[in-house]
Amino acid sequence: DPSSPIAIDPLRTVAKEMKFLTKNIKQLLGSGHPTLDRVAKYYTQSEGKYVRPMLVLLMSRATAITPRSLRDDAPPSQRKIDSSISDGAVLNDGNPSAPEYASLTSEDDSLYRAGDSDILPSQRRLAEITELIHTASLLHDDVIDHSLARRSAPSANIAFGNKMAVLAGDFLLGRASVALARLRDPEVTELLATVIANLVEGEFMQLKNTAQDEKSPVYTSDTLNYYLQKTYLKSASLISKSCRAAALLGQSTPEVVEAAYLYGKNLGLAFQLVDDMLDYTISGEELGKPAGADLELGLATAPLLFAWESNAELGALVGRKFSREGDVEKARAIVHHSSGLAQTRALAQSYVDQANDAIKNFPNSEAKDGLVEMCNKVMQRRK
Ligand code: FPP
Ligand code: MG
Ligand code: MG
Repeated sequence: DPSSPIAIDPLRTVAKEMKFLTKNIKQLLGSGHPTLDRVAKYYTQSEGKYVRPMLVLLMSRATAITPRSLRDDAPPSQRKIDSSISDGAVLNDGNPSAPEYASLTSEDDSLYRAGDSDILPSQRRLAEITELIHTASLLHDDVIDHSLARRSAPSANIAFGNKMAVLAGDFLLGRASVALARLRDPEVTELLATVIANLVEGEFMQLKNTAQDEKSPVYTSDTLNYYLQKTYLKSASLISKSCRAAALLGQSTPEVVEAAYLYGKNLGLAFQLVDDMLDYTISGEELGKPAGADLELGLATAPLLFAWESNAELGALVGRKFSREGDVEKARAIVHHSSGLAQTRALAQSYVDQANDAIKNFPNSEAKDGLVEMCNKVMQRRK
């Protein structure tokens, strides 16, 4: 509530860090090939929500004041992270001063060090890596979904074509991997590499609406579980594992690491449930991307699944992915006349409650308040 004077702004808590994020991401994405450079940086020009990096930074700060635990494989955590990218720089070989290959300027580094910040350089870099992986998945997603718009602008597949959008996504994953390897933390590398695999697994699960391979599936207790598993892989895996990685980089104890993971997992599930609800309730103009797109794409998300539980006739439509004339309109009407949207919101709220519960033993801090506020924001968001 913007009118409330005591409202906590989670962004304010990490505002200084967020200022460097886009700049550093652009630096990580520099390529000597001018077209690749442009396509790779395309989604960094529009204002994203930066939910994932913000969560990593808040989690880093909130766990900085919890007990430490020294891991066997712990890297020298205060080490400066080398950010120059100089591999495969065919077009720039021998030209290290080319702007595309400039390392983080010493100006940035000194600001990082000079700040009395409790966030480690490795945790800042992790925040950037999460945004790179997320943006890579959006580049690929927009090709798969034949998307027309993202963040109120033509999506990359429209602006540059499918081939360049796919390749740019791969490039982002490559640069994210380089940055990840340079953290020199095998457990964190494994976590984020698993996220990339999970994103693909989730997307494959989404190619089917249910585990049943029938023309007219019936709603069972497994239906929602399949959807939630898919939702974890597609949306909550990145958020939960990067929160876990933030705590690991900060040498937190196993209990704190687990709490960070559970916070991210439950918040991630809530985030996607709200996303699936907004697809039914918000105009495309407000969303910055077409609304009502899920049914058009053949997708049965939570609101429809809840409606299906008490409207068996939806089974045939789910089975043929709403492909027959009038299917989309009929399904939409049934959802709006059912309790599906209310049930989706209630389920999202229960995950948000579990996310808050996971961090309740963290010492009080502005960053912890920020994490709680992120939960409230998920439930209030309209885009
Ligand atoms: C957006 O969902 C998409 C995702 C959260 C993940 C997509 C994952 C892939 C395409 C797998 C392969 C990619 C990589 C980089 C491993 P949405 O389509 O429901 O949301 P939207 O409305 O924002 O498009
Ligand atoms: Mg999409
Ligand atoms: Mg998609």
